[in-house]
Amino acid sequence: MNRTKKIKKIAVMTSGGDAPGLNACIRAVVRTAIYNQLQVVGIQHGFEGMISGDFIPMNANSVSNIIQLGGTILKSSRSEQFKTKEGRLMAYEKIKKEGLDAIVLIGGDGSFEGAKVFTNEHDVSFIGIPKTIDNDISDTDVCIGYDTALNTAMQAIDKIRDTAQSHERIFIVEVMGRDSGYIAYGAGLAGGTEAILVPETKADYCNLEQVLKKGWDRIKSSLIIVVAEGDESGGGFKVAETVKKYMPSHYVGVCILGHIQRGGSPSAADRNLASKLGYAAIEGLLADKTNVMVGMKLNAICFTPLNQIKRHHLDINTNLLKMITALSI
Ligand code: F6P
Repeated sequence: MNRTKKIKKIAVMTSGGDAPGLNACIRAVVRTAIYNQLQVVGIQHGFEGMISGDFIPMNANSVSNIIQLGGTILKSSRSEQFKTKEGRLMAYEKIKKEGLDAIVLIGGDGSFEGAKVFTNEHDVSFIGIPKTIDNDISDTDVCIGYDTALNTAMQAIDKIRDTAQSHERIFIVEVMGRDSGYIAYGAGLAGGTEAILVPETKADYCNLEQVLKKGWDRIKSSLIIVVAEGDESGGGFKVAETVKKYMPSHYVGVCILGHIQRGGSPSAADRNLASKLGYAAIEGLLADKTNVMVGMKLNAICFTPLNQIKRHHLDINTNLLKMITALSI
C-alpha cells in the first residue's frame, strides 16, 4: 500500500474480548470518516472476517442508535488462523481486493501484536484504538470499557454487601483480570472492600488474616475481599478455602462476576472516550499517521507507534498498599 497516497477507503473492525463502548467507537469512526468523504466498510468477526472477506459497506445510518449499546455490532473474535502466515496472506489478499487504504483496529494488546506482525509482512496500514476492560495497554491512561466494567463490579460489591451485612457473612468477589488487577483494585477501592488481591503482587495471607480477624473483632458486620481471576491465589474459591481456615465458624460465600463485567450499556465516560478516540483515529489517518495507536494521556490525544505498545501493569506501590490497609480498618 502506498502510504503517501491520499486515503479514500477505510475499514473498521473490533477484535478480541468485547468491551462496553465498542459501538460508540464504531459510530465515531464511521461518522468522522464519512464527514471527511471517505468510503467505509465494516469488517465483521475481527481478524476471522478479514481472512474470509466478511466486509459490509457502512454509512452514517448504519451506526444510528448504537452509542448506548454494549457488545459490538461488528462482532468480534480471537482468531487462531490470523496467527499463521497463511491466514495473514489470505487477509492481505482480501484487503487488496476490497481496495482498503487503512484499517481502524479497535482492539487490545493481542490484536495489536497481530497487527504488528501483519504490517511487517505486508504493505498494510492500521491505526489502533485501545479497548479492554482489563485496562492493561500502555501509552494510554485508560482503555475503552474499563470504566463501565469497574462500575458493574462496584455495583455488584454494593449488592453483595447488603446481604453480607444482613447475615453477618464474609464474601469473596472474583472479578475479571487474567493478568491485570485494574478492575479488582478500582472496584475494591470504590466498594470499600476489606482486602484486594491482584496479580501484580503476591497475596499477603498473613496480612489478610489480620485484616479479617481485626475487622471481626471490631464487630464489623460483613467482610468482603475482591480478587482478580488471575491472582496467583487461584481465584475466588481458593481464597474462600484459605479464609475458611482462618475463620472456620464463619460463612464464607463466593461470587464470580465473570462475563457480566463485559456487557451492559457503556458509561458516559466510556462513550465519551470511545467517541474522542474514534474521531481522533480518522483525523490521525488523514494526517498520515499510520501503524500507531491513538490514546488519551492527561486528557490529551496522543499517537504511539504500534510496535512500542506493550501490556501495561497496575503500579502497586507502597503508598497505594498503605492506603488500602488504612481504609480497610
Ligand atoms: O478481555 C479481557 C478479559 O476480560 C480477561 O480479563 C478474561 O480473562 C478474558 O477476557 C476472558 O476472555 P474470553 O471471553 O475469551 O473467555
